[in-house]
Amino acid sequence: MKEIKVDLKDKSYKIYVGCKLEDIGSRLKEYKPGRKILVVTNPIVEKIYLEPVVKSLQEADWDVYTAIVPDGEEYKSQAEISKLYSVCIEKKLDRKSTILALGGGVIGDLAGFLAATIFRGVSFIQVPTTLLAQVDASIGGKVGINHPRGKNLIGAFYQPKAVFIDLNVLKTLPQRELKIGLAETIKYGVIWDKDLFFYLEENMQKIKDLDWVCLEHIIQQADAIKAIVVQKDEQEKDLRRILNYGHTAGHVIETMMDYKGYKHGEAVAVGMIIANRIAQKLGMLNSQDTQRIKKLIERAGLPTQVAEKLALDEFMNILKLDKKVEEGKVNFVLPVRIGEVVVRNDVPEDMVREIIKDVCKCN
Ligand code: NAD
Ligand code: GLY
Repeated sequence: MKEIKVDLKDKSYKIYVGCKLEDIGSRLKEYKPGRKILVVTNPIVEKIYLEPVVKSLQEADWDVYTAIVPDGEEYKSQAEISKLYSVCIEKKLDRKSTILALGGGVIGDLAGFLAATIFRGVSFIQVPTTLLAQVDASIGGKVGINHPRGKNLIGAFYQPKAVFIDLNVLKTLPQRELKIGLAETIKYGVIWDKDLFFYLEENMQKIKDLDWVCLEHIIQQADAIKAIVVQKDEQEKDLRRILNYGHTAGHVIETMMDYKGYKHGEAVAVGMIIANRIAQKLGMLNSQDTQRIKKLIERAGLPTQVAEKLALDEFMNILKLDKKVEEGKVNFVLPVRIGEVVVRNDVPEDMVREIIKDVCKCN
């Protein structure tokens, strides 16, 4: 097991990569403000992984409560958060209680927002069960819910007390979800670490075949990068914006497909293609690197364009509503080479329209 520290002074915490679900109870001893813990999960994860987690918590003398949220991005909603508030109140949780998220990014974001807001904030533990959540969503404290007008529009920065990553849970993860996690992993390669990018190029098939050595390596590398970036800029005032590579257009695609067409990582994959095309058009990224990134995205089994037609004007309107827009200017994270990106808010709108029209088959 490897411990990676996210150094945020009094909000510091550790990511335990390679721990076991069965050990969470005993590992949580040092993070126990009170006895009550609410495990938030969904019916899919509940069936496979809730029992060992609950058992280990009970053995460590916790009073365990559970809340099961239906599966799906559409449940990262105001309606579900209201129900969760009611559960906390009915179960008489208090400010010394703990919320534990057991699931993918949807559960992590939702349970984290619950922890951040109920009783003005209680202890929060992340147990991510998708590759995406293990390499990205569970780290860094972004928690929140969606609004019908856009993704993640309601939220907070609220750091967990610890992140426990058991690689074994990836055995049951559908291939599609594994690929979605790979999108965020490719992101780290492009924005920060060319060696990780090359490693992904060399080992893509082994990773898709669940080679544990390769998986452990990419999760550790990704988490270490995320820790560095979050440490330097917890609240996304500057450097952390680079983690949004592919997300500017990706979020619009997710919203336009009503969170039911492409999933987050798939939309981010297309968003990375859009960012690369803009960077190439601006003369920043050479065509060799543009092609190389596209090829890796394809080899991961991710989409590089949107199959269904999207309305261009609506796309542009939603793009301008994104959280990443500052004073009306859309921020794009653009690669200059593999391993380095810059944030630009001066991309001409005509250029954006032209590229989106092409990649998203807009009308
Ligand atoms: P998800 O949480 O919907 O999980 C994907 C699917 O896998 C679900 O059907 C889930 O039930 C299932 N699942 C989870 N673990 C499983 C397992 N071990 N075995 C079998 N099935 C399993 O999706 P996701 O991709 O993990 O997360 C997407 C969400 O994360 C989005 O809402 C996105 O906005 C958010 N996100 C947040 C951050 C952040 O920094 N907070 C970063 C990236 C993404
Ligand atoms: N996933 C982007 C971030 O955590 O900032």
